[in-house]
Amino acid sequence: MTANPVSVDSTPSLISPDVPLDRSIPAVPLKLGIMASGNGSNFEAVAEAIASGELNAKTQVLIYNNPDAKVVARAERWGVPSILLNHRDYQKREDLDAKIVETFQQFGVEWVIMAGWMRIVTPVLIDAFPNQLINIHPSLLPSFRGVRAVEQALAAGVKITGCTVHLVVPEVDSGQILMQAAVPILPNDTSETLHGRIQVQEHRILPRAIALAAKMYQ
Ligand code: GRF
Repeated sequence: MTANPVSVDSTPSLISPDVPLDRSIPAVPLKLGIMASGNGSNFEAVAEAIASGELNAKTQVLIYNNPDAKVVARAERWGVPSILLNHRDYQKREDLDAKIVETFQQFGVEWVIMAGWMRIVTPVLIDAFPNQLINIHPSLLPSFRGVRAVEQALAAGVKITGCTVHLVVPEVDSGQILMQAAVPILPNDTSETLHGRIQVQEHRILPRAIALAAKMYQ
């Protein structure tokens, strides 16, 4: 299965910084922990980038919070262990985050990738992975933070949107931007068609932004 079987993207896009692929960085494989809530196409994109040698990394573990998340089957196919931490079982966000930190530490995780994690995270998680907690968001931040970013862009009538990979800080969708890709909004776009084209770009920039972050912060 590819990261995004439905979307064949022929619209122009701009990626910045469009750093050349350097397979020697990082020299030592990054130990990744991935957090996902749903479909997991970004999980798959990272797995494919690792398999192709584009990203020198190993996904140590997947943490997911919805029992029926499709990402679990993807993890199984890639031989990545997956752990369900259902947010409904925790009274406070901090309690869930403490369990996430404990789990990642058990699996030797150094870099955490929020790849479609639909929960707000707290300093309990953020402070455990300083500069090593990364999120992907389907807009050109700082525009359209928070939920339903694709719908927000359509409603605003902007003509270009995109996706952003950034470091995570306590304020939602506000940390240092690592990499962005621009995606034009076409006249008949629905949130589904637009999100599909944004995801094509997400899958391109997420592995490259992880490598870039490793170069900057490892
Ligand atoms: C992506 O669009 C990502 O930007 C957002 O959630 C979506 C997850 O998609 N945070 P997937 O589960 O990786 O397919």
